[in-house]
Amino acid sequence: MSPITAERKETLLRRYGSKTINANAGPGGRRPGGFRGPGAPPIGIKGGKPKNIAATINRLLAYIGRDKVKILFVFACVVSSNLSSLGGSYILRPIINNLVSAERSVEEKINNLVMGILILACIYLVGVICTYLQQRIMIVVSQNALVKIREELFRKIQKLPLKYHDAHTHGDIMSRFTNDLDSVGEMLNHTMVHIFSGVLTLIGTIILMFVTNWLLAIVTTATIPLLIYAGGLIGKQSRKYFKDQQQALGAVNGYIEETIAGQKVIKVFCHEETAMEEFAFLSDDLRKKQIMAQFFGGIMGPVIHNLSQISYAISATVGGILCLTSNFDIGGLTIFTNYSRQFARPINELAMQMNTIFAALAGAERVFEVMDETPEAADPAKAIEICSEANKTEGARVVKGEVVLKDVTFGYIPGKTVLKNINVIARPGQKIAFVGSTGAGKTTITNLINRFYEIEEGEILIDGINIKNIKKDSLRSNIAMVLQDTHLFSGTVRENIRYGRPDATDEEVVAAAKIACAHSFIKRLPEGYDTVLEGDGANLSQGERQLLNIARAAISKAPILILDEATSSVDTRTEKYIERGMDQLMKNRTTFVIAHRLSTVRNADKIIVLEHGEIIEQGTHEELLEMAGRYYQLYTGAVELD
Ligand SMILES: Nc1ncnc2c1ncn2[C@@H]1O[C@H](COP(=O)(O)OP(=O)(O)O)[C@@H](O)[C@H]1O
Ligand SMILES: [Mg+2]
Repeated sequence: MSPITAERKETLLRRYGSKTINANAGPGGRRPGGFRGPGAPPIGIKGGKPKNIAATINRLLAYIGRDKVKILFVFACVVSSNLSSLGGSYILRPIINNLVSAERSVEEKINNLVMGILILACIYLVGVICTYLQQRIMIVVSQNALVKIREELFRKIQKLPLKYHDAHTHGDIMSRFTNDLDSVGEMLNHTMVHIFSGVLTLIGTIILMFVTNWLLAIVTTATIPLLIYAGGLIGKQSRKYFKDQQQALGAVNGYIEETIAGQKVIKVFCHEETAMEEFAFLSDDLRKKQIMAQFFGGIMGPVIHNLSQISYAISATVGGILCLTSNFDIGGLTIFTNYSRQFARPINELAMQMNTIFAALAGAERVFEVMDETPEAADPAKAIEICSEANKTEGARVVKGEVVLKDVTFGYIPGKTVLKNINVIARPGQKIAFVGSTGAGKTTITNLINRFYEIEEGEILIDGINIKNIKKDSLRSNIAMVLQDTHLFSGTVRENIRYGRPDATDEEVVAAAKIACAHSFIKRLPEGYDTVLEGDGANLSQGERQLLNIARAAISKAPILILDEATSSVDTRTEKYIERGMDQLMKNRTTFVIAHRLSTVRNADKIIVLEHGEIIEQGTHEELLEMAGRYYQLYTGAVELD
């Protein structure tokens, strides 16, 4: 086996890394078990900085702003806990001065000491309670905001047109719910309070330093610019390396995701060794970048701390001299040296929070981006509700199921026409078949009838009503559809069939399964209709999955039925068997059938032959054979369907 070439390495890093960086570190980035190094900032820094900080912050604030009273209470708690910690430290001064005083008796000193310590204890107790409350309430506020954002995002995703899903990978959409929302949550939970509290501590400490001894304060605070400079320098490096780390992290996650999903294919083509080698390369790349990121992330604290020790030493020395030469008191010196040690802490913390903030803002921006997408066109004000004879609903217009496509021209991508001038008339109860090679546009036609996509030219009418004027929900619930790609949900067989009509009885579920020829295999399942299907029906064969999909459509009372290669994975014998059920299913319904096996469409009222998005022939089986055109060739095997 050949080692990975430099070119391939480059491709691996770019493909997986960039894919997942854009997708915000990819799925798994922040989930438990993801490859997240300890101390790594939340994933979500995209291109370093978010684009429109002010607008994003405003929008986030609007979410937490709904809990105004709680927020005010949190801030009051932060102020109180800061005041208590600063005040407490300031009270040490008289306590110490009392102890070293030459004028008081021992008894007096002890009394004062006990008194002082009691006051101190009370002050700190208030501080502890405030800190507890501020954390507790802030978490409630931020979780309230998060749940709103999450639900809004989910609702939005349900409303987005299929066009959006065509252009975005699942991983990308999912990571907005996981990585992005997580980093927003991280910031709302802790960072905001941290920053506010840090700033208060910093200002308070500096004020107290000046109050205690202004000369010493000037000497000590002179080192602040040095601290900020050093912090900024390291922060810049560490941000850069964190970005590299995340990119590498994304690459590793992306690679794992793909190899797990494609495990079967990897085995079929014996690519295990290559996969392992490529993974080892990506993993090692992550190791290198992680070392740098963690190093710079880790030295920030110690560097700031050590630099602040210098100011501590200076203030202790100068303070000592002041004690000896002027009338600076010992108590004052003690609390001052404490302050000079303390005031670097908030600077350090603020510097560390920048990563979280940038990550959260970038995450929030990606979430809002989805929320701002244009949803499926809303129903017009006078949209009509429709229903079938078999399933009459109040206020809805009963339709017989006539479907007409008039001069329909459509393309998924502007400028690239997929369907050209399609004209189809399906009378109520007729069976219309579409045949044609792969990519001819068969599925696309059904996508348009269902309004998965909006047409540009022409119109589609159901019983003479333009589908644009029919309520979308009502339209879709009146078209039963067996999609070309099956999808089953985690749940029992019964639940999956009932997905087609939630109010169906158990008997109706069984009847639908019988129509779809699924009853006998369901009976053989360990728990029959109560067998739980896992991971898109992984415990079933492809054909069995198709039968369940047909059953799901069969349970619906919709007047229009669309079967898109519904039996492509079912053996010919079962297919023959289903036919009887199908005839029953199609009775009194307008049906569109797309099938690869032409034998299954022979009895259609009309067969439409499509090629490159155009109708080239149409008629009944006999008429088309007589025409001796394309259909004839396909049917007699002169030309294969490709
Ligand atoms: N979601 C999509 N976005 C862009 N192009 C698409 C999409 N779905 C299908 N197409 C293109 O439209 C053409 C017709 O596809 P389709 O209707 O699925 O063919 P088929 O006749 O095999 O069902 C194909 O060339 C395909 O590449
Ligand atoms: Mg298709």
